[in-house]
Amino acid sequence: MRLILVGPPGAGKGTQAKRLVEHLGVPHISTGDMLRAAVKAGTELGKKADELMKSGQLVPDDIVIGMVRERIVEPDAQKGFMLDGFPRTRPQAEALDTALQAADVALDAVILIDVADEAIEKRITGRRCAPADGTIYHVEYDPPPPGVEVIIRADDRPEAVKERLTKYHRDTKPIIPFYESKGLLKRVDGLASPDDVTKRMLAALGI
Ligand code: AP5
Repeated sequence: MRLILVGPPGAGKGTQAKRLVEHLGVPHISTGDMLRAAVKAGTELGKKADELMKSGQLVPDDIVIGMVRERIVEPDAQKGFMLDGFPRTRPQAEALDTALQAADVALDAVILIDVADEAIEKRITGRRCAPADGTIYHVEYDPPPPGVEVIIRADDRPEAVKERLTKYHRDTKPIIPFYESKGLLKRVDGLASPDDVTKRMLAALGI
């Protein structure tokens, strides 16, 4: 299956993607994770992305499009993939379409995890990430077990979260009608426990 997960920052895309890929047996391709890995490794790309990400700005389309084009042709993505955090702009959606057409494959669905802005702040300010294996926790809803080292993401400061939400509404939301017009969009209410959201997503996919 070839899937895209869309939703505002903190909607639960990463949390749900990790569960769904186990079920579907396809790789989880998160542009946020790829960019954070580049920042950590200190590559040229990482150096360019670091300041933009910390302040909640988007990384330029050409950089992210190039990264995803290379990733989706890798052997493990031939049977399908779950894109998380990409596309995030209309040009990214169009570039993905072109790349998929060139490979003579098509998307199966685009899942929008709907969460209102008011719920986002609590989710993001409580998020903790385990650098060892990428597990995502929440101090209240899913606390990290004792002894597990966790960090707070550099872009989870309130000013950066505000900017990320602004960017979501301005740049990312326009891709929703783009996929709706292709009959690919499935809306899932993300305001429920992670288990219930997973069930809703599987139901939306008819699994
Ligand atoms: P990215 O990493 O993609 O961040 P994001 O889209 O802002 O999404 P988040 O990772 O913040 O949230 P999420 O929806 O995955 O939620 P999570 O599961 O963690 O991108 C980061 C940056 O990279 C961007 O700002 C940009 O600079 C750059 N970038 C990335 N892709 C790009 C692109 N395509 N183009 C340009 N730039 C790009 O959950 C959040 C919290 O809520 C967690 O603590 C979790 O435990 C908790 N939680 C999850 N589900 C539930 C639930 N159902 N109930 C209660 N709590 C829950």
